[in-house]
Amino acid sequence: GRCVVAVDGPSGSGKSTVSRRLAAGIGARYLDTGAMYRAVTWSVLRSGIDLTDAESVAKVAGEVDLRIGTDPHGYGVTADGVGVDVEIRGPEVTGAVSAVAAVPAVRALLVARQREMIAHAGRIVVEGRDIGSVVAPDADLKVYLTASAEARAARRSAEDATEVAVTAADLARRDTLDSTRKADPLAMAADAVELDTTGLGIDEVVARLRELLTE
Ligand code: CDP
Repeated sequence: GRCVVAVDGPSGSGKSTVSRRLAAGIGARYLDTGAMYRAVTWSVLRSGIDLTDAESVAKVAGEVDLRIGTDPHGYGVTADGVGVDVEIRGPEVTGAVSAVAAVPAVRALLVARQREMIAHAGRIVVEGRDIGSVVAPDADLKVYLTASAEARAARRSAEDATEVAVTAADLARRDTLDSTRKADPLAMAADAVELDTTGLGIDEVVARLRELLTE
């Protein structure tokens, strides 16, 4: 039957790997909402408009033809027909995404798209920052993954081969940007299960989530 799992948490909390694994394990679709914010950011950067011009940023977001797959074994993101899977993980997009994600019109647009995709999926694991609180408040299971700042920086560096100190500084910067906006998308939903993944392996976290799902 229908089943929506919301997995929220900051960068490096392990939510991407865990969400994909969980989705594959329970035969569900998988939606990476961060990839959507990143793809819009890529379009904004390509358009050359001023990042602080919220109106123009919102306009680009409204015009770009954004497509994202939901297969947990391999999903692709395209913006106006261009595959951007590699580009959206690059430093330019990572450096600008929090600013773009802070524009209320951008959030409204992407949240609406996300709700539509969730409504059309039978079983789906949705990963992001505001899934349990805003996008899918009726989710069957809401988890909020955390980890120490050190563990998060170490994981992210291992993934992208950036120096830990550089990654730590970037995560701290984005944490601040992401949590100081008006409607704080990093705020945990009141009914979410918080799980500290510091020192836990991926398999242990996935097993715990599967336990929670059957409870
Ligand atoms: O895992 P990491 O935080 O590096 O990246 P992500 O999940 O791809 O999200 C990138 C950025 O998109 C975050 O830093 C947020 O600024 C934004 N985001 C958001 O505002 N809301 C979401 N549901 C997902 C991402």
